[in-house]
Amino acid sequence: MKPENLLAPYVSTRAYIAELMVKATNPKNGDVLVDIGSGEGMILYAGVLNKNIKRIVGIECRTDLAERVEKKIKEIGLEKKIEIKNRDVFNVDLSEINPQIVTVYLNRTGLEKIRPKLENELKPETRVVSNTFKIEPWKPIKIIETLYTLNPVYLYRMDSI
Ligand SMILES: C[S@@+](CC[C@H](N)C(=O)[O-])C[C@H]1O[C@@H](n2cnc3c(N)ncnc32)[C@H](O)[C@@H]1O
Repeated sequence: MKPENLLAPYVSTRAYIAELMVKATNPKNGDVLVDIGSGEGMILYAGVLNKNIKRIVGIECRTDLAERVEKKIKEIGLEKKIEIKNRDVFNVDLSEINPQIVTVYLNRTGLEKIRPKLENELKPETRVVSNTFKIEPWKPIKIIETLYTLNPVYLYRMDSI
């Protein structure tokens, strides 16, 4: 992967924030969730807890993390629901996955780099939820405070950015 495509180093979202992020998007029956840079899968597992979400895709460039999550998914029998793509997200066409929900925990520079791709490839009704960092210059439809004052969650809808 080109070094400039790295969107953030690996840091896990806390379990309770992952649940809050998924809940904030108000999943509808049959929704598809994509986590960009899925790390050790915290947000993917939070997605599984929501009965409305039909399919979950984690895109992760680090092979060690992707393999660890794939192994765990098989162990707990979730391979029909969760798919891991061990890829640089810039080589994945998000419009083919066609998600209604996109989750990100990336840094400011990473969000700047991925923003045009989200604008080009996501449908108007797609909700994007970001842990801690605002996606500038988008306008969030909701800012959710968490127990950690420096870590709010920002909710966007592509037709209202
Ligand atoms: C801050 S971590 C977030 C992990 C997970 N989403 C969570 O919230 O627990 C960011 C992840 O993005 C991955 N990543 C960074 N750049 C990427 C890229 N271009 N394509 C795919 N994954 C990437 C990193 O390897 C890392 O695991």
